Amino acid sequence: MYMFEVEGRRPLRGTVRASGAKNAVLPIMAAAVMAGSPCVLHNSPDLSDVRTMSKILEGLGATVERTSDGSLVIDPTTIDSHVVDEMLMRQVRSSIFLMGPLLARMGKVQVSYPGGCDIGQRPIDLHIKGLKALGASVEEKHGHIIAERLRWEGIDIHLDIPSVGATENIMMGACLADGVTIIRNAAKEPEIVDLQTFLNAMGAKVRGAGTDVIRIEGVEKLHGAEHTIMPDRIEVGTLMIGAVITGGEVTVENAVAEHVQALTSKLREIGAEVHFNGHGITVRGKGRPRATDVKTLPYPGFPTDMQPQIMALLSIADGTSVITETIFDSRFKQAEELGRMGAKIRREGRTAIIKGVPALSGAMVEATDLRSGASLVLAGLSAEGKTVVRGIHNIDRGYERFEEKLESLGASVKRVSDNRR
Ligand code: UD1
Repeated sequence: MYMFEVEGRRPLRGTVRASGAKNAVLPIMAAAVMAGSPCVLHNSPDLSDVRTMSKILEGLGATVERTSDGSLVIDPTTIDSHVVDEMLMRQVRSSIFLMGPLLARMGKVQVSYPGGCDIGQRPIDLHIKGLKALGASVEEKHGHIIAERLRWEGIDIHLDIPSVGATENIMMGACLADGVTIIRNAAKEPEIVDLQTFLNAMGAKVRGAGTDVIRIEGVEKLHGAEHTIMPDRIEVGTLMIGAVITGGEVTVENAVAEHVQALTSKLREIGAEVHFNGHGITVRGKGRPRATDVKTLPYPGFPTDMQPQIMALLSIADGTSVITETIFDSRFKQAEELGRMGAKIRREGRTAIIKGVPALSGAMVEATDLRSGASLVLAGLSAEGKTVVRGIHNIDRGYERFEEKLESLGASVKRVSDNRR
């Protein structure tokens, strides 16, 4: 077990490159299961979630190799099992994405309830509803979900909620179904567009990703493909906030401006400068940020995955801010930890009221999930004195070489062993 020791009050300055997106590579790795020949995924981030997903694929019979230039080579042709390892499944929520692809390829799948971040209730009813509609029987036995393909036919489905995962699962399964599938009220996140690009490179016929209606024309088989994973917009956003919270200036290369528009407009509103050029995004913090209100929404709204990080920033803003979390019901876990650092945050259900203080002070805090962990590191970067962030395995799930990247920008973030665990 490791923890981060962060020495605060050092402005981040310099240029850093965004890694490939965790939330794009994980479903794409699941999609690769359906290919009839090997797939190469360039710009795959080296994250613990990606390593766990690789082990899951290997457990199914695939081979997965990481090359020295950051690509993953997946050979799914030797897959001979439909059973997803229970212990690994508990470690990474995205393992649920294997349901659609394995049903399409093997005709059956056995999974257990997925793990991942503890950010409140995360049901999978919409995934199951879609797969049942495509023609699977689904039953629950001794904590396992066992699904079998009875038919596999195109459907016209309206999602009650634009769930990212359910959209992706149905989209992947439908690629090998007979006829046309239409997903209405689909999620519009950029990672879904990346998945569409990969599926089409495999020979699928998918269009509409990025809008709320996705149309998939089933094909008979899919082949291996080469694809470059999109940049991680949440990592980009985290680094952008890093610049503002420390009053520094950071350029994030390989960032897509359109993917971080909601955050950009908030940062400008609170007084930061944000510039785009062909290579990336430059963010400059200018004095104490002003308070503002934030409401999380599906893309292109303000992402729930950036909510803990902006809470850290608003805790040192001039004035009172209100954050409303509409996507997950228990995603203010960082508030209490930020409180240990001197933040004044009151929670009322899905709303947090943040009375900005002039500065935070270093303390020992616990990262209880991925993004709250990032928020505590950001708070530590701006705080007076030393902050110790424990539970950083949660941060390693989704940030590639986080401390190295921050140190390259002038921060002091040391990974040290946590002997008290
Ligand atoms: C994905 C992201 C996660 C992000 C989230 C919202 C990945 C790997 N993870 O998670 O980082 O925080 O989108 O942007 O891409 N819901 C149901 N039933 C379901 C599925 C979802 O009620 O079957 C609800 C959830 O409880 C939640 C909302 O739908 O309230 C959105 O969840 P969803 O978009 O599915 O999130 P994930 O795909 O799990």
